[in-house]
Amino acid sequence: MVCPHCQGAERVFSNSWAQGELKQYYKKGASKSTQVLIDVLKENKIEGLSLLDIGGGIGAVQHGLITAGVNNTVDVDASAAYLQIAQAEAEKLGYADKASYIQGDFVQVAPEIESADIVTLDRVVCCYPDMQALVELSAQRAKQFYALVYPRDNILMKIGFHIFNFFAFKLSSNPFRTYIHPTQEVDAIVQSNGLKQIFHKKVGLWQVFVYKR
Ligand SMILES: C[S@@+](CC[C@H](N)C(=O)[O-])C[C@H]1O[C@@H](n2cnc3c(N)ncnc32)[C@H](O)[C@@H]1O
Repeated sequence: MVCPHCQGAERVFSNSWAQGELKQYYKKGASKSTQVLIDVLKENKIEGLSLLDIGGGIGAVQHGLITAGVNNTVDVDASAAYLQIAQAEAEKLGYADKASYIQGDFVQVAPEIESADIVTLDRVVCCYPDMQALVELSAQRAKQFYALVYPRDNILMKIGFHIFNFFAFKLSSNPFRTYIHPTQEVDAIVQSNGLKQIFHKKVGLWQVFVYKR
């Protein structure tokens, strides 16, 4: 059974939305916070490592890290449109044989997902209500590095997200919502899974965290 969150995500992250993001990516490259995440991981020895990118969108993290020497990628995404675009880009960039794609809610499919050297969630935690399960299950699967981009947690952001949810989703009866999860709680769950914070930077509305086991 498809969860209401995933049905909502499919409506939000539709083919036209994903195509729009791909156009932006061709024009300007990865978003600033995504590029910071890629650059920090590239400063470490990542050649030959495996990547699990959860909610990979058009695949910017996968494209960036495979170019930097990562050996293989798995993308688990709730949106079929995003997965199709990420896969088509991998074919264009010549690494389709090293990439695999799974559609679903990561929390539901996690028992079938193998651990990877690097696990990334770029702007995904803010799309999911059960942060505890998403962070816990993904952190458990990070053998070496765990990297997250999620929104800064302050009162202005909370008000902004509240208004955004109302106009973008509630008015159109879409069950999808965005969330500001408390930074301290996210960080505590990650660290309780044996990962140590090695990087933190605020980038506009977002913050980038990288952890190492
Ligand atoms: C805001 S988009 C970010 C896409 C990309 N990582 C980026 O930063 O451009 C959020 C992505 O997370 C996916 N997503 C949200 N919750 C998910 C979950 N529980 N399991 C798998 N994918 C999820 C959505 O389908 C979407 O692709």
